[in-house]
Amino acid sequence: MYLTDEEKRILDGERGEGGRKAMELLVALGKTFDAEKLIPVTRTHVALSGQEGDTYWCELLVNGGATCKVPPSTNPSWDVENLTKLYEVTPEERELGVRTIDVYRRIGAKLTFNCAPGLGSNAPLFGEHVAFSESSATPYVNAVLGARSNRESSVSALAAAVIGKTPLYGFHLPQNRHGEFFVSVDAELNEPYDWGLLGYYVGRFAGSRIPVLSFRNLPRKPRPEEFLYFGAEAATSGAVAMYHFAGITPEAPTIEAAFGNKRIPEAELTVRSDDLAEQEATLSVANASGAINLVMLGCPQYSYDQLLETERLMEGRSVHSETAFWILTSVDTAELAARSGMRGRLEALGVRLAVDTCIDEPCWKSFEGGLGVTDSPKCAYYRERRGQPFVIRRLSECVNAAIRGKV
Ligand code: F3S
Repeated sequence: MYLTDEEKRILDGERGEGGRKAMELLVALGKTFDAEKLIPVTRTHVALSGQEGDTYWCELLVNGGATCKVPPSTNPSWDVENLTKLYEVTPEERELGVRTIDVYRRIGAKLTFNCAPGLGSNAPLFGEHVAFSESSATPYVNAVLGARSNRESSVSALAAAVIGKTPLYGFHLPQNRHGEFFVSVDAELNEPYDWGLLGYYVGRFAGSRIPVLSFRNLPRKPRPEEFLYFGAEAATSGAVAMYHFAGITPEAPTIEAAFGNKRIPEAELTVRSDDLAEQEATLSVANASGAINLVMLGCPQYSYDQLLETERLMEGRSVHSETAFWILTSVDTAELAARSGMRGRLEALGVRLAVDTCIDEPCWKSFEGGLGVTDSPKCAYYRERRGQPFVIRRLSECVNAAIRGKV
């Protein structure tokens, strides 16, 4: 792998032990994937997650004198100050939450705590080379915005942020961005939830391959949240970091173009509404019904329009007294909701907004053991690993479940 003199000097410690470690990781990654060289990145996003390993890596770099050359936006961890007033965590969990926020501040990250950066807080332009971690963010910036990112881990994205470079391989090379299998879709797709089910279904077959989807009878182009849900779920059931919607996404003006002007393969998969209904049934825990203790929305974090839609569906009704209703969102969306009065109106009904926070954090553990409802298969996947079974329903049904306190 070719290294410039400056890169060699960083590897020799010119920018301290932290810089050396970050460079070492990028070079190891590049050698593993036969990268010819490193290339500059103009943006980075780190899925900091608040988990011990990620925090340790950031501490290792910052204690070695590293700071970020390309300051990354960051995923949510959790709102330690406010959520500990409501819910129990152990002193160790609290301490890790505080340590995580502190160390990312010290390394010079932008503390956006937002897992949908492509929708606003850090949205690259077409053709930009970037290093994004967060499995729902990477397919969005690649497929929808036409930027170029590999499916980075929080560790490699932070190394790229410190050095300002990433190895040239994978999705940075145009020849690796073409479709690898063909999916024909003839299903009703009306809201983000439907697109999430489609993503989950396609991801199961895709693995890490690039799907090209061709749609019949699509009444309109997908909205940003719908793209986001598709990618988030395709990266949950599979490892999809790039996809094409023929005639819709920027690198797929035609089906031929999506496949790099090579022969279009036969459709490997045909998806109809029945398939998505079956997918929905298999995602929820079997035969789950009855009282619920939590409705959790916002994985990925909800946009302003999704909050508005939730308020519309509430129709002024209050959340059941035995059910908590939390929506995770970014701090800027919550601020706009507060300014417009929407946040106050939602709170008066019992719907609360959690900012800076992910569903996969210890602050939610007091709900474990009870039944939850969500519109996100990704949320259910992570929460069930922590001991809370979930039923997956579209937004209108989640709202009704919150009001009735049962599903
Ligand atoms: Fe966001 Fe956490 Fe879900 S980072 S996408 S809320 S798992």
